[in-house]
Amino acid sequence: MKVGFVQMEIERGEVEKNLNRAEELLAGKTADLIVLPELFSTGYLFRDKDEAIEYAEVVEEGATFEWLKKMAGTIGGFIVAGVMEKEDDKLYNSSYLIGPIGLLGHYRKAHLFGREKMIFTPGDLTIHPFNMGPAKVGMMICFDWIFPEVARVLALRDAQIIAHPANLILPYGQDAMITRSIENRVFTITANRVGCEKLDDIEVHFTGRSQVVSPKGEVLVKASDDGEEVALVDIEPEDAEDKHVTPENDIFKDRRSDLFPRLID
Ligand code: ACM
Repeated sequence: MKVGFVQMEIERGEVEKNLNRAEELLAGKTADLIVLPELFSTGYLFRDKDEAIEYAEVVEEGATFEWLKKMAGTIGGFIVAGVMEKEDDKLYNSSYLIGPIGLLGHYRKAHLFGREKMIFTPGDLTIHPFNMGPAKVGMMICFDWIFPEVARVLALRDAQIIAHPANLILPYGQDAMITRSIENRVFTITANRVGCEKLDDIEVHFTGRSQVVSPKGEVLVKASDDGEEVALVDIEPEDAEDKHVTPENDIFKDRRSDLFPRLID
């Protein structure tokens, strides 16, 4: 199975430009699964919810959704991408798993970072993977990395790959994702942004270093910290089914959930 990421610069509020840039980067590529960054078509910083809602899309509608469906057909596989979603008067920082015939999976970011709390409603959808045929794929978004429960729940529910659209700002999210892979014996694909975004006196810098990590914690491919890049790598999703770290240690069977039943059943 061929999987990978798009690492790109994104301009705040320039949806058409961002979609065109992603399309240029993907030109000529084919893959089973490609992950794009969090909020890749809209950008990240908004003054308030009223400004952000102008760019949001109802699920399965809108320019970003239509583009994703078209591009899934062009690459001949599935895409996971971060999308600004609106439902009634609520905004969600969401990701979709989309194939040529449409939406297969939907996730809403559970753990909001910094100013996101002023704009988005925390995710309320059940955390579980989606079966895209060659693999079961779960989604988490950016700052979810610091809460090991998200990846754990996905892995306990048989995810083989965790797709992780991101706008990473703190410098150690990529390292933590190597640990998320090791402690759950799953593949993780982090698609991050590069460059800066400014809003009035706020400026955020995105740290790149998008990566694909194996269930053993091997970084199979890694992007630079400042350049746009599409990277693809061949993986065997079944490698995520073996939870042994030694012949004697199956890390899921060895979990002492009797000692922490209220934390994780
Ligand atoms: C983040 O969660 N976008 C830092």
